[in-house]
Amino acid sequence: MTELLGIDIGGSGIKAALVDCESGELCSERVRIATPRPATPDSVAGAVTELVSQLDYSGPVGCCFPTIVVDGRAKSASNMEREWVGVAIDETFSEATGLPFTVINDADAAGVAEMRLGAGVGLSGTVITLTIGTGIGSAFFYEGQLVPNLELGHMAGHDGVPYERWASNRARKTDDLSWEEWAVRFDGFLQRAARVCTPDHFILGGGASKKYEEFSDGITVETPIHIARFLNDAGIIGAAMAVRQ
Ligand code: BGC
Repeated sequence: MTELLGIDIGGSGIKAALVDCESGELCSERVRIATPRPATPDSVAGAVTELVSQLDYSGPVGCCFPTIVVDGRAKSASNMEREWVGVAIDETFSEATGLPFTVINDADAAGVAEMRLGAGVGLSGTVITLTIGTGIGSAFFYEGQLVPNLELGHMAGHDGVPYERWASNRARKTDDLSWEEWAVRFDGFLQRAARVCTPDHFILGGGASKKYEEFSDGITVETPIHIARFLNDAGIIGAAMAVRQ
């Protein structure tokens, strides 16, 4: 079976679609509902159940979640409710829907989609994929193999503030920065990430990556930069692909 349901859980929306895991194409409509507030395990499980029934799906589900995920369990909260820490996300959603769930970190899922089917195809050595959105998600690949749960956005940056609060797309909007001004911050983040991890390539995804031409002049890091192929669907696609691993 190559058509699997992928669900991408984010701080503002929960998105789902059936994915052809060979090509990465979506093979159903893409459905979205707003993340319930507060986003507790019970309320999010309710929203996930609603999406599964909207798509009339039964079968294994791949799901990505915006926290550190170890063996299906949330190990951090970041932009989700603290209540999630320690919760078995896979079991919570399985109990609610009656379907088997595989759960991985959202940036890892997006990275898997890019490495297998997108901008990372053919890249060797160490590749870091980044999703620049509300936070900064990161995924680390060595010779195509994912090393899960890299959290580069939480490195301390300017004045000790985590980089994701200083250099994310949300920080650009909140601090009302021009692309040029924001590029200085984001370049600082890339320089630090390059110093710590010595990647051979960066792949940039998430909202801000669509505007690369607006800020590319401010990027001085020597590591080659590639722009993601899947953009907003990368999480859904990578989540579905994770089921097969
Ligand atoms: C979280 C990461 C997540 C990223 C993007 C960060 O705040 O710590 O686990 O991948 O946001 O959602």
